[in-house]
Amino acid sequence: MTNTFGANWKLNPVTIDKAKDLLDSYANEGLSGLVDTEIIVFVPYIFISDLKRLIDEKGYTFRLGAQNVSEHECGAFSGQISAAMLASVGVTEFLIGHSERRGGYEEKVVHSQDIMIEKIRQSVNVIDEATIKAAKTEAIEYTNEMLGRKISTIVEYNKHQWERQEQNQNEKPLLLRPLTALYCIGETLEEKAEGKTLTVLEKQLEKGLAKISSDDLKYVIIAYEPRWAIGTGKSANPNDIKEAHLMIRSLTRSDIKILYGGSMKPDTASEIMAIKGVNGGLIGGASLNAQDFSKIVKYHSK
Ligand code: PGA
Repeated sequence: MTNTFGANWKLNPVTIDKAKDLLDSYANEGLSGLVDTEIIVFVPYIFISDLKRLIDEKGYTFRLGAQNVSEHECGAFSGQISAAMLASVGVTEFLIGHSERRGGYEEKVVHSQDIMIEKIRQSVNVIDEATIKAAKTEAIEYTNEMLGRKISTIVEYNKHQWERQEQNQNEKPLLLRPLTALYCIGETLEEKAEGKTLTVLEKQLEKGLAKISSDDLKYVIIAYEPRWAIGTGKSANPNDIKEAHLMIRSLTRSDIKILYGGSMKPDTASEIMAIKGVNGGLIGGASLNAQDFSKIVKYHSK
C-alpha cells in the first residue's frame, strides 16, 4: 500500500502569498512527484482555488483537502460548505471529525450541550453526576452520528457521479478520482486514563461508519489521532498505536488505509512508520515547515 501523508495547515498561514510559498517550498523539498507516497494538503477553505491554480500551473502532484465539510448538500445553512462545492474547485479529500472540531470547539452540538450543562450546574446546587454523564454521552453519540452523515455525503457524491458518468459515456469524465473521507478518531486524556481508549474508538467507528457498506469503505481513510497528542509534543507509545490500528482494521477492512496523527515530528516519524499497520501520518504543526514535513515524509532516507 502506498504511504499517505496529510499536511493539516489548520488556521495557517495568514495570507494567500504565504500559503503559495509554503506549497512551493514543499515542491522545492522534492515532495511533488514522489512515486510511492501521496501528499494531501488540508488548507483553509479560502485558499483552495488559488492553490489549485498553482498546482495545475506547476504540475504539482499534491492533492487538495478541506478541513471540514457540511453534512448537507445545499439549502439554508449559512456558513456551511458542501462536498459538491468543494469538489467543484478541486478538493478530493475531506477531514471529518478532526479533534479540534470534536472537542466542542466548533461542532456546535457538543459545544451547546456543554454550555447548557454548565448553566444547569451553576443554577442548581444539586444536580446528580449521572444526569451530567448521560447528557455528555448523548452529545458524543450525536456528534459521531453527525460525522457519519458527513462521511455518507462523500460516498453518495461518488456514487452519484459514477452513475452520471455511466449514463453520459461520451462526455468528459465528471470525476477524475473519487472523493475520500478522512475520518479522524481518538480518545481524550481522561478516557485514556480510565482505560477506555479501545471502547471509545469502537464507538466512533460504529456510529461514524454505521451507514457505510464494506465496499464503500474504499472511499474512507481512518486517522487515529489520540486527542491528547495533538499539538502537545507528545505522541502515543508504539504499542498503543499498534493496538489501536489493529483494532480499527479488524472492525473495518483489512486493506483500509490508517494514518497516525498527533505530534508526529522528524525525529519520531521513522519509529511511528515502522509500527505494523501504520500507512502514513496526519501532520499538523510540523507541516508548516517544509523541511520538517519533508523529513517526516522521507523518514526512510534518514
Ligand atoms: P499536530 O496535529 O501534528 O500538530 O499534533 C495533528 C493534527 O492536527 O492532525
